[in-house]
Amino acid sequence: MNQLRNAPYRHIGTQPIAGSLGAEVSGVDLADPHPEALAEIRAALLAHQVIFFRDQRLTPDQQLAFARAFGEIHLHPFMEGMADYPEILEIKKLPTDARNFGGAWHTDQMFAPEPALGTILYAKQVPSAGGDTLFTNQYLAFEALSPGMQRLCCSLRTVCYGDGAKKYQGQSRREFYAGKTTMKVKDPGDVQTTSIHPLVRTHPETGRKALYIGGHVQHFADMTDAESRPLIDFLMAHSTRPEFTCRFRWRTGSLAFWDNRCTQHFAINDYPAEIRIMHRITIKGDRPF
Ligand code: SIN
Repeated sequence: MNQLRNAPYRHIGTQPIAGSLGAEVSGVDLADPHPEALAEIRAALLAHQVIFFRDQRLTPDQQLAFARAFGEIHLHPFMEGMADYPEILEIKKLPTDARNFGGAWHTDQMFAPEPALGTILYAKQVPSAGGDTLFTNQYLAFEALSPGMQRLCCSLRTVCYGDGAKKYQGQSRREFYAGKTTMKVKDPGDVQTTSIHPLVRTHPETGRKALYIGGHVQHFADMTDAESRPLIDFLMAHSTRPEFTCRFRWRTGSLAFWDNRCTQHFAINDYPAEIRIMHRITIKGDRPF
C-alpha cells in the first residue's frame, strides 16, 4: 500500500488518473511556483511515479527553471538539443516522418552509468487525436512476481546499450532513424553509452524495490544473448501488463513529469498525417543500486 498517495497538500491538488500510477496535479502555475509547491510536487512525484499538469504556458527558460528545482540537467548524448537551449530536446514528428522518438517501452538514459532521475515533457503542439504516452509502474511489476522470481531477479545485472547493432534491429541508431525522422542523431563522442545495472533497483528516496528493465537492456551480465532473451522478454511483457499502466492524453500546454527510477514509458506513434512537438528536459540521476 502506498501511503504517500494520500498525503495532504497545501499548495496543490492531486487526482489519480489510473489505479496503478499517475495523477493530475492542479492549483499550480509552473511558470512561477511557490517554493512549498515545489516540495509538494516532489512528494507527489514520489507518491504517483508520474504527474501531469494542464494548461501551462512556459517559455524554455521557465521550463528550465522548473526542472532545475529538482536537480542538474542531464544532456542526451545522442540527440541534438535546441540551438538556443541545448539542455532542451525538441521531440518533433512531422507528417513526413515514419518513426517517432521514444516509440518503445523504455526508461530514459538507462544506457548511462547514472541514468536520468526524471523527465519533464511539455506539449507545444499535439495531434487532434493520438500521440498519447503510456507509463507503467515498476514497483508493482516487481511486487507481483513470485518470491522465487524476485530472488532470481535480485541476483541479476543487465547490460544496457544506447546504440549499435544490439539495440536498433541490427542497425546503428543513426541508420535506424535515417530518412524517417527530422530529429538529428549525433555522435556521443567519449560519453559512456553502455552500462551495467542491477535488474532490481532500490529507489533512493522511497526505499522501495522496482524492476529496472526497458528497451535498452540487451542481455544479463555474464550471460549470452540467447540465454538472456527468454527472461528479458518475459519481464518486458510482465512489467507492461495493462493493470500496471496508465495512458496520458496530451493537450497543448500539458506537462508530464515522470520518475525514471520506477517507471517505463512508451510514446504511441498513431498520428501519421499530423504534427507533434514536445520540449523535453531530463534531470541527472545517481548510480542505481
Ligand atoms: C520519450 O521517450 O521521452 C518521449 C515520450 C513522448 O514523446 O511521449
